Amino acid sequence: MKIALGVSGGIAAYKAAEVVRLLQERGIRVQVIMTQAAQEFIRPLTFATLSGEKVITDLFSAGAEPPNIDSAVEHIAVAQAIDALLVAPTTADILAKFAQGLANDFLSTLYLATTAPVVVAPAMNVNMWEHAATQANVEILRKRGVRIVEPGEGYLACGMVGAGRLASNEAIVAAALEALGASQDFSGETVLITAGPTREKIDPVRYLTNRSSGRMGYALAEAALRRGARVLLVTGPTAITPPGAAEVTQVESAQEMHKAVLQLLPEASIVIKTAAVADYRPKAASVQKIKRTTGPMNLDLEPTPDILAGLSRAKQNQLIIGFAAETENVLENARKKLAAKSLDAIVVNDVSRKGIGFDSERNAVTILTRDEAVEVPETTKWEVAQRVLDSIVKLKKRAAIETA
Ligand code: CTP
Repeated sequence: MKIALGVSGGIAAYKAAEVVRLLQERGIRVQVIMTQAAQEFIRPLTFATLSGEKVITDLFSAGAEPPNIDSAVEHIAVAQAIDALLVAPTTADILAKFAQGLANDFLSTLYLATTAPVVVAPAMNVNMWEHAATQANVEILRKRGVRIVEPGEGYLACGMVGAGRLASNEAIVAAALEALGASQDFSGETVLITAGPTREKIDPVRYLTNRSSGRMGYALAEAALRRGARVLLVTGPTAITPPGAAEVTQVESAQEMHKAVLQLLPEASIVIKTAAVADYRPKAASVQKIKRTTGPMNLDLEPTPDILAGLSRAKQNQLIIGFAAETENVLENARKKLAAKSLDAIVVNDVSRKGIGFDSERNAVTILTRDEAVEVPETTKWEVAQRVLDSIVKLKKRAAIETA
């Protein structure tokens, strides 16, 4: 597991040295990136010695002068190699750059180039922290799914008292571990995840499908893998790449998905059904391409099997989690599905809201179990995935207590 630790310019920069050590103690490799300003406070050598890796000090710092092709694309290589980006301390300047998408040094470029989770631990003068501009930037980042390790209150280096002190190293490391999913609380579990849309064939060139992109299911697969699970991913056709470590079964129709899921069920301890399965399919797919005529055309449809309802009957002691896409009476409908399909939990999203859910990077959901409703306000699908897994951990613990 590898983390990029961005150190930006502030008196608290020296505290990042201890963060490097704490992360390494947990077996995490640390690639330190220092901004120009950070180098005014602490020398790169300190971090190079502690981390055992070359410290990146600017956009063209791969060592060669003039910069060579390797250094020119180093931010992309680092972006792809890391499992999380942590910035501690984070100055007001870096918060502003991240929020606005500026990319004029290595750290801000890396922030744009990586898809790994991001954690920032701000530290600055109290007035700078409380300034409307800084607070607006923090809000933008929070909405984007960046984890904010809130600064503490106390005496600040500038002589003032108030909020702005870098959070404790323990709080920073805990947030980084959470982002990495390094708690490994899914080790020993096999999670069967269905994702994406299904395609129901009309004729050799046409099919019925829906707007599901597969992103929610793939985010769950990735998050479960990082938390130590074995992941069996049954996926309909999508345009995105599944996580490398998932065991993938590609399917097209609801029928094929049904078969694959039932076959894999005995291996699974947890089933999460994010797939947007077609409820109806053409009664008979035409062998030949259907020709245009002048009159209207009717397509005879028949119901597909309800995979989820069938699973609840076939299961042994697996936990079964469904998803529900609703456009009206959202919670009420979801509660009905929870009961009707005998699920342990259902994750419901209001797909009538713009910018979230179907075919989007973001989502806002409510996780319903039989005894609670956890609301997850709009955030990234990665963050939603983490919250869903957190709820499953709770369900597991409760099941263990009940069977004890
Ligand atoms: N589902 C399934 N098999 C189907 C249809 C749905 O397994 N043939 C699963 C989905 O994967 C999802 C859950 O059932 O986890 C709810 O899907 P949704 O489309 O919201 O509900 P439906 O049961 O299809 O009800 P409706 O379309 O009437 O809202």
